[in-house]
Amino acid sequence: MALYAIGDTHLSLRCDKSMDVFGGGWDGYVAKLQEGFSDLTPEDTVVLCGDISWGMSLEESREDFAFLDRLPGRKVVLKGNHDYWWSTATKMERFFEDSGFSSLELLHNNCRLWGDVALCGTRGWFYEEDRGEHSARVFQRELIRLEASLKAAGEREKICFLHYPPVSQGYRCDEILELLERYRVGLCCYGHLHGASHRQAICGTVGSTEFRLVSADYLGFRPMRLRP
Ligand SMILES: [Fe+2]
Ligand SMILES: [Fe+2]
Repeated sequence: MALYAIGDTHLSLRCDKSMDVFGGGWDGYVAKLQEGFSDLTPEDTVVLCGDISWGMSLEESREDFAFLDRLPGRKVVLKGNHDYWWSTATKMERFFEDSGFSSLELLHNNCRLWGDVALCGTRGWFYEEDRGEHSARVFQRELIRLEASLKAAGEREKICFLHYPPVSQGYRCDEILELLERYRVGLCCYGHLHGASHRQAICGTVGSTEFRLVSADYLGFRPMRLRP
């Protein structure tokens, strides 16, 4: 019954966007993921922190979901900036159900439970996106989603999962950090940073929250065990 997290699986089993071309750690990454999940049991839970599949639609991502579904454990899925297959919760849940992908659940405007602990989160916000009028709306929506997720947890202990880091070297998103502080989030995991960008990551405590980078290449494609 352990809890794990990993972000950025960037699967592309059907479309032609394999990450193998990036070389380095990404070489043979699908096999590495398979091996990395071999520590997990079907009773474990793993949160997938976005950038899950390169597919442009649910159909294009089908083989990637089938691969994830076959890996041991219950998978709680949140959205990354490259998840173009993302649709409405109703459509995604129906797709998972019709396809028999029974180990996949969405973390979106809600929270999921791991025992008494609430798993909260959303995609989050990153400085790479410009701050024009449209972006400001998207940013506000992300804050609303995050707060809705934290509220749904009630008085439970909360662990937060974001795709974008809310804080990194030279950057901090005060609005998100304030929410994490206000809702007493003790641990926040995030992905998105790859390769040389790992150097920008902050892994440690800011305010009252501990931050951990869990992008797959940073972890050597082995989910990070969070609890117990
Ligand atoms: Fe990303
Ligand atoms: Fe990514």
